[in-house]
Amino acid sequence: MSRPVNFSAGPSMIPVDVLQSLATDMVDYKGTGLSLVEVSHRGPVYDEVHQQAIALIKELLGVPEGYSVLFVGGGATMQFSMLPMNLMGGAPADYVNTGVWAKKAIAEAKKVGDVNVVWDGSDSKYLSMPQVETLKPSSGAAYFHITSNETIGGVQYKSFPETGDVPLVADMSSDIMSRPLDVSKFGMIYAGAQKNLAPSGVTVVIIRDDLLARSSDQLGAYLSYAVHAKANSLYNTPPVFPIWAMKLVLEGVKAKGGVAAVAKENAAQAAELYGAIDDSEGFYSCPVDQAFRSDMNVVWRLSNEELESQFIKEASAVGLTGLKGHRSVGGCRASIYNAMTMDGVKRLTSFMAEFARKNG
Ligand SMILES: Cc1ncc(COP(=O)(O)O)c(C=O)c1O
Repeated sequence: MSRPVNFSAGPSMIPVDVLQSLATDMVDYKGTGLSLVEVSHRGPVYDEVHQQAIALIKELLGVPEGYSVLFVGGGATMQFSMLPMNLMGGAPADYVNTGVWAKKAIAEAKKVGDVNVVWDGSDSKYLSMPQVETLKPSSGAAYFHITSNETIGGVQYKSFPETGDVPLVADMSSDIMSRPLDVSKFGMIYAGAQKNLAPSGVTVVIIRDDLLARSSDQLGAYLSYAVHAKANSLYNTPPVFPIWAMKLVLEGVKAKGGVAAVAKENAAQAAELYGAIDDSEGFYSCPVDQAFRSDMNVVWRLSNEELESQFIKEASAVGLTGLKGHRSVGGCRASIYNAMTMDGVKRLTSFMAEFARKNG
C-alpha cells in the first residue's frame, strides 16, 4: 500500500509500525482473547501499559524525582483552564503572547484571575519571539506561562527563560519529545498528544509535586491536578486507546536512541525544508524570524493566494497532503513532527523545486 506523506498539523502522522501493531493487537490483545479497549482499566493487562507509558515519558524526558506525570482528557484546551484554576490561588499569572495558542491560553486564564501579558507579539504578527533573557516574571506571579512552539505561526523557542522562584509553565503540545529538555527548569509542562505522542484523546501533564498543594479541595474532582496525581491518573476511566498508542510511539523513540537522536533527525529535516525555501530565489518565502523558525511547523508563502492553492492541490495529487496553512493565516505549512522521515521531506522539496521551475 502506498500512503501519502502526511504533513497534517494535528492529528498528525503516527509511525506506520505503531498503526500496524495497534491493528494486529486490536481484536486480541497479546493472546488475552479481548481487546485492550474492552477490558477494565483497573485490571493487570491495562495497568502494565499505563505504568509503562508513564515510565517511558519519565525516562525519555529525564523527568527528575519530585515530579508527577498525569494523563488527562480534554486536550491542551482543557489545560488552558485547569492550569489557572489549580495554580493561580488568587495571585496574578504571567503569560507570553506568541501567537494563536498563547492567546487562547491567556483568554481562558483571564476567566479565572488576573493575567499580566509580559510580552506581546501581536503587533509584529507573531512572526518572532522574545529574547528569553528579557523575559522576567512579575513579583508575586503565581506562574509564568509560555507556548514552546506555536503550531500555526511556526515560531519556536530555542531556549527557555529563567524565572527563578516563579514556576515556569509551558504548553508543549506541538514539540514535546522532539528535543532534549531540562524538565527541572519547569514547574509544569502540558501537551496534547496528537502531534508527537499519540492519537488525540490524552493530554500529558508533568507537574512538580510541591505545586499539587495549590489545588483547592473545592475544585471539581476531575479538574484537580492533586486528584489525578493521587490516583496515578486512574481516578476515573483514562483514555485507554491513546495511552496504549503512546506507549508504542515512545518505545519507537527509545529504539531510535532517545530524544537526542530524534532531535538530530528533526533538525536535519527542518534544515532541508528551510533550505528549499531560502534557495528558491524568492519563489517561496518564509515570513518567520530566522532565529525562531520552528523545527516542527514550517510555514511559507508563494507570490499570491492563487498560486498557493495550485501548489497545495498539485502537491496533494502526488501524495503530499496536509500542506494548507491554518485558515487564520493562509499560506502553506508542513508539519514535520517526530514521525516524519527525511524521505518524506525530500519528496516535498523535490516537488517544490519542480513546481517552482514550472511556475517561476
Ligand atoms: C500549541 C498548541 N496548544 C494547544 C492546542 C490545543 O490542543 P487541543 O486541540 O488538544 O485542545 C494546540 C492544537 O493544535 C496546539 O498546537
